[in-house]
Amino acid sequence: MKLRNWMVAFAVSGAASAVAAQDLRSPSPDQYVPRLGDIMSTAQTRHQKLWLAGKAQNWELAAYELNQLKASLVEAAVLYSGIPVSNVTTLEPSLQSIADAVAAKDGRKFGKALGELTDGCNACHRSMKRSFVVMRVPSDQQPFANQQFAPAVKP
Ligand code: HEC
Repeated sequence: MKLRNWMVAFAVSGAASAVAAQDLRSPSPDQYVPRLGDIMSTAQTRHQKLWLAGKAQNWELAAYELNQLKASLVEAAVLYSGIPVSNVTTLEPSLQSIADAVAAKDGRKFGKALGELTDGCNACHRSMKRSFVVMRVPSDQQPFANQQFAPAVKP
C-alpha cells in the first residue's frame, strides 16, 4: 500500500479520527527547517559511525557515512547564516584526507584524518561560544563515545 493511501486509511479508521489526513502530510522543504542542534546531533551520530566503519575496515560504509556527515555540515552552513562559512571550509582538507584514506583503505591515515576533523569540530564550537561541546575520536562503540562529558580543565 502506498504511504499516502495508508495514511488516509489510518485517518479514517477511527484509530486516528482526530487526525485529518491533511495534517499528516510531510512539510514541504520551505516549511521544515531543522534546528541547528538537531543537525549537529545527526553529525555526531555520523561522526561516530564513520569512525566505527573505518575501524571495522568497512570502507564502503565509511565512504557513505563521510558523505552523510559532509551533508550535515553543508546543511548547517547553508541554513544558518550566523555560522562563519570559513569555519566550515577549514574542515575541507581533513574531510578530503578522510576521503583519500577511505579510497586507499588506509586505516592509519584514516585515524589521523578523523582526529584532525574532530579538532575542526571543536574549533568551531569554541569560536561560537559552545566550547563546552567537546567532540573526541570515539573510544569505543558506546553511544556518545565521541563526546567528552567531564568539564574541561580550565587553562
Ligand atoms: C561551523 C561551525 C561548526 C562546526 C564545523 C561543527 N559544529 Fe557542532 N555545533 C555548532 C554550534 C553553533 C552548535 C550549537 C547549536 C545550538 O546551540 O543549538 C553545535 C552543537 C553541536 C553538538 C551539540 C548538539 C546537542 O543538541 O547536544 C554536537 C554533538 C555537535 N555540535 C557535533 C559536531 C561534530 C561531530 C562536528 C564535526 C564533525 C561539529 N559539530 C562541527 C557549530 C559547529
